Order: sequence, then C-alpha cells, then structure tokens
Amino acid sequence: MEKETEKANSITVYIRRFDPEKDAAPRQQQYTLQVEKGMTVLDGLHMIKQTQDPTINFRFSCRMGVCGSCGMMINGVPALSCNTQILDVTTTALTLAPLPNFKLIKDLVADLVPMFGVLKGLQLHIRRNDVEEMEKPTYEYYQTPHQLEEFLQFTYCIKCGCCMAACPTMATDREYPGPAPLAQAYRYNADSRDDARDARGDLVAASHGIFSCHYAGECSNVCPKGVDPARAIQLMKKDLVLSYFGLAKHKCAHLHKKPDKATYKAKIEAPPHTV
Ligand code: SF4
Ligand code: SF4
Ligand code: FES
Repeated sequence: MEKETEKANSITVYIRRFDPEKDAAPRQQQYTLQVEKGMTVLDGLHMIKQTQDPTINFRFSCRMGVCGSCGMMINGVPALSCNTQILDVTTTALTLAPLPNFKLIKDLVADLVPMFGVLKGLQLHIRRNDVEEMEKPTYEYYQTPHQLEEFLQFTYCIKCGCCMAACPTMATDREYPGPAPLAQAYRYNADSRDDARDARGDLVAASHGIFSCHYAGECSNVCPKGVDPARAIQLMKKDLVLSYFGLAKHKCAHLHKKPDKATYKAKIEAPPHTV
C-alpha cells in the first residue's frame, strides 16, 4: 500500500528548454519528481533546480500569488506556478512551457516588458481636469461604495500576463494591446474620480485596438485573480459606441467636496483579523 502511494506521488515533469542565444530549436527535458501534498509547481521547480539541474531558468518573487512574475503554461494552461498545486492538475505528468504571445527570454521566462509598455502608454492613473486641485488638494475625492464597485474587481490585476497568453487575438495580431492593458484602461475610465475617458478611448479604439477582441473570453477563464478582462473590454466597447453616436452619458469627475454628514462615513473600518 505504501509503495502505491509512493508511485502515485512520483511524476514526470517535462520542461521546455530554450536559450535563443545558443540553441537552434527548443527541446523538451524530462525529470522525475517526488510530489508531496501541498507542493506547488514553483516548489517542484525549485526542487528540480536544487537536486537535479541547476541550469533551469524560471522567474518568481513573492511565492504568494501577488507579484505576477511566475506565470507559465502548466499542462497547456496559463497559470501562476506559485499558486498551482501539482496534485491539483496531475498525478502523472506535468508539462511546463513559457507563456506564449510574448518574446522568450530563456526556458520558462517570457518577456513581459512590452505589456508593461502598453500599460504605461495608456496613462493608467487618475487624470483630472482640475489640475490645481490635484496639486493642492483642499479635500479628498469623495466616492460612494457603488461608484467603487463599478471598477473594484479590475483593480485586482497583478499584471501576470496569463490572460495575454490565452488570448487568440494576441496570437494573431502583434499590435493588439491585449486584455490586461484594456481591462486596466476600463478600470480608470470607470473610476468616478477620473476625467480622461475620451483620451484613453482614442488610444484603445485605434486600428488593431479594442474592436479586434472577438469576445472568446479565454482571458477571463485563466485569470488567477478573478479579474474579468473580457467583461471590461465589452463594457468599454459599449461606451465607445455610445460615445460615437453622441449617446454616452458624459462622465465628469467628482468634485472634491465634503459630502453631507448623513452619507459621510468618516472612518472606514478595517476588516476583522483572520488569524
Ligand atoms: S487580468 Fe488577470 S490574468 Fe490578466 S494580467 Fe491581470 S491578473 Fe493576470
Ligand atoms: S475576450 Fe478578447 S481579449 Fe479576451 S481572450 Fe478573447 S479576444 Fe482576447
Ligand atoms: S511568485 Fe509572485 S505571483 Fe507567483
């Protein structure tokens, strides 16, 4: 009985190896790994690197699903290696490859810098017309819970690139901005404190822009943080079409006034301790 358990926990790991500076073509390298309950794909990679092959390249930082640096293809699906337990996806074979739709740096490391460039170009921060007030604020920008809910889920994006790797439009159109930047553009467009919807709209509606998305929804299916980029993109498309026909409700950033006492909650309660 003990032997069977041991056998079930011994898996084969296939890792795609490729150094564009040295290798003519990618190859698949095979390892055997003893898997324990609770071991993540990232733990497994560390184990292989420490005990079998120190030359494997992979990226990580936080090991807790926060930094977004450990995304890779895990048995054909884009996911965070630190957030995926091996026994949740296989008891026999694990295939690891770099995220597609990005240039490859080496082995399992994809180059996410172009995605960060697109994010930067969309000016993803609060932009307002009342510049003077922004520079010398006289009061906080008031926002109701309902206004916060309009964009809250999109703020959970950690820029891991998993949605970009899953997107069929990204695979065929290198100029398409991709689900992560487009969802973040919507996050700011939907923020009641922001004034720059029209400026961002011009950027995202350009040729190869948001209307190239055909709503396959794969981006949302793979997101490890529960963000729904496909929804953000469709909502932004709707806003752009309404705007084109002059039917959009003009969004004007909230003033920095103090709300009525009746609706103003001076202190936001912190969530209770969980441990
Ligand atoms: S939307 Fe999700 S999958 Fe895409 S970059 Fe953000 S966290 Fe990653
Ligand atoms: S919904 Fe749009 S952005 Fe998301 S995967 Fe499909 S084509 Fe790509
Ligand atoms: S190591 Fe930070 S998200 Fe996986």
